[in-house]
Amino acid sequence: MRDIRMIGDPVLRTPATPVTDFDRELRRLIDEMFTVMYAASGVGLAGPQIGVPRRLFVYDISGRKGHVVNPELTVDDPEPVTEEEGCLSIPDREARRPVYAATPRAAGVSVTGLDRLGRPVRVRARGMLARCLQHETDHLDGTLFVDRLAKDAARKVLLQAP
Ligand code: NI
Repeated sequence: MRDIRMIGDPVLRTPATPVTDFDRELRRLIDEMFTVMYAASGVGLAGPQIGVPRRLFVYDISGRKGHVVNPELTVDDPEPVTEEEGCLSIPDREARRPVYAATPRAAGVSVTGLDRLGRPVRVRARGMLARCLQHETDHLDGTLFVDRLAKDAARKVLLQAP
């Protein structure tokens, strides 16, 4: 099983490239991403987090699960909502679990993209899933949730990370 890449790894800061081949390898990669995410008790995982700089992510928010390849995110409701957020790539140095911080996100978003067979998918969400979709799409652009925090709050998170 692939390791989760941690903050400081350049792959997390590299914009990912679109997936072009909807083949067996892609399907195997998506299955593996779910396995890695569940093993780490995560609710979302993006390609770069396992060292694959491709535009795809998987998610499972309380059983609302799925995957999106080449996602495009649209903000439907820009009202900012601030809730605790963490990332498997930014764990606490000792406890080896994510460091959480109150992070502002848009209240409602839609993501369009493709599934593992190249068929169009669309996910519309509010609440935790909307937060997750924004977080995972950010990963594909080399953006981490700490980038969405005020400087002091970001510093506090990074001081707890490895
Ligand atoms: Ni993350």
